Parts: sequence; structure tokens; C-alpha cells
Amino acid sequence: MRRPRVLAFIDPWSPDPAELPAIQAHLRGLGAELGVVTKRGTWLVTPDDPPARLAEAPEADRSFEVADGATLVEALAAAGDAMRTPAPMTFTRREWALTSIAAGFSLALFGCKGKPHEDKPAPAPPPVVKAPMPPEYDIVLSVNGSDRKLKVEARVSLLDALRERLGLTGTKKGCDHGQCGACTVHFGERRIKSCMQLAVMSQGMKITTIEGLAQGDTLHPMQAAFVAHDGFQCGYCTPGQIMSAVAMLAEGHAKTDDEVREMMSGNLCRCGAYPNIIAAIQAARKGAA
Ligand code: FES
Ligand code: FES
Repeated sequence: MRRPRVLAFIDPWSPDPAELPAIQAHLRGLGAELGVVTKRGTWLVTPDDPPARLAEAPEADRSFEVADGATLVEALAAAGDAMRTPAPMTFTRREWALTSIAAGFSLALFGCKGKPHEDKPAPAPPPVVKAPMPPEYDIVLSVNGSDRKLKVEARVSLLDALRERLGLTGTKKGCDHGQCGACTVHFGERRIKSCMQLAVMSQGMKITTIEGLAQGDTLHPMQAAFVAHDGFQCGYCTPGQIMSAVAMLAEGHAKTDDEVREMMSGNLCRCGAYPNIIAAIQAARKGAA
């Protein structure tokens, strides 16, 4: 069975009796032969025989030469031309095929300076077109009993306006998609999820956040009930829970625990503090906090 043949492109190289045993040991392990291609010629090394020089590139034979800076495609074309040109050979047809192919590829490797596009200046990057800044609108929000002036883009939510423009970070951003209730504030008489409300559409409404619930140092009864009944663990959902619970009581709901669960179902607690939250709400409802 024919052995696999490994091609090596190296220059300069000539068989070295000192390294030959190691090379042949490797070839024996691989069960392969080694074709070594240099600028000056080609050798065939087998595991057991002395290296055989298959071809020598004659000084006068320039048919394989390619111009400096030739592309790989041009070098391959030159190699193909050379392969089609009969040349005086002193080796077998099989060896001639190996030598021609190897020589062609070695010319491609040794004769080319690089890819043509490396010589050309890189194309200029496309000009950066800056999108125009969206306009901002002057608005006034009535928050916790004060009129607050601010400039906002039309797309800014009430939640972002409260937290990032007015510094009222007690209102939390959980999902920003109206699903967790962490951002609950009072909007007039209603409780709303402030992430779902545009700031520019909130003018003229009385907005209350968790910061506006206590009276000075005196906690709102619902806040006190949450503290008394451990109605929180990490506390992230707690401002939204408290704002929602206060509004729920004002709505006249929460007569039973099931009613509390139903009416507070828009306020999620990742910590699962629900039993204590319900206990706190019922305590606040009964005025026993
Ligand atoms: S952040 Fe508004 S509902 Fe979750
Ligand atoms: S206390 Fe942690 S999410 Fe409710």
C-alpha cells in the first residue's frame, strides 16, 4: 500500500546525517514518506533508505520564476505552465508529478511577496453619520407635593425621570416591562407602574413615591407594619409593595388574605416574603401595626 507523503517547504535544507535518524524514526512511526522542497531542489526521505534527491532547480531554468509581488494566483498559474512544459527528467513519472507540484507550490510560497491587497492602501472607512439628537421637552412634574422642572426626551419613562433626573431612587426598576411592580407609584388616586408611563404625559398629575409616604421621621402605618412583620428580605420589591398596598387599602379591598393575594398579584417578590407581606398589610388594615 502506498505510504502517505508529508511535504515540507523549508529553505535552506540538505540531508544532515546527524538529524536523519530522528527524521526517519518519526516517519517510521507515522508510516509515511517525507518530501522536502527547497529553492534549490527536492528530496524524498523514506523511513529506511538514504534521502533521494528527486530534482534540482537548475540556475538557468527560470520558467518557474514569478515576478516580485506576484499574487498567489499568478504563482499557481506559473507553476501550472511549468508543469505543462516537458523538462529533462532523470526520475520516474510518479516522482516527476510530486516534484512538479511541490516546485509549483514552493514557488508560490517563496516567490510571492504577499497578497495584493496588502500593497494597496486600505479603503477609507465610511463617514460616520451622527444621528440627530432627539428633542427634549420642558416639563413640570408634581412629585411628593413639589413641582419639579425638568427636560426630558419624549421617550423617557416616569420611572427614569424620577430615578435619574429627580434622584428619587426609592422607586425601583425591576423588569422595566410592567411585570414586577417594583416601580409602583401613586398617580393621582391610582397606583401605576411608572415604567409604563411616559414622563411627558405625567404633567398635571399628583405623583407620590415611597419618599413621599412618611411624614418627616414618622413612618406611614403601612411602612411601620412591614417593619413590624418582617414583610421583606432583600427589600428590593418593598417600596413597590408598600405603595401598592397603601393604594389597595384606599380602594377598599383586602378584606381577606385571598383578596390581598389577588389585589397584590401585580407586585412580585423574588424572595418569597409573601406570608409576611400579607400579615403586614392585614395589620395595617386593622390599624394594629
Ligand atoms: S419595573 Fe415596572 S413593573 Fe417592573
Ligand atoms: S423582599 Fe426581596 S424581592 Fe421582595
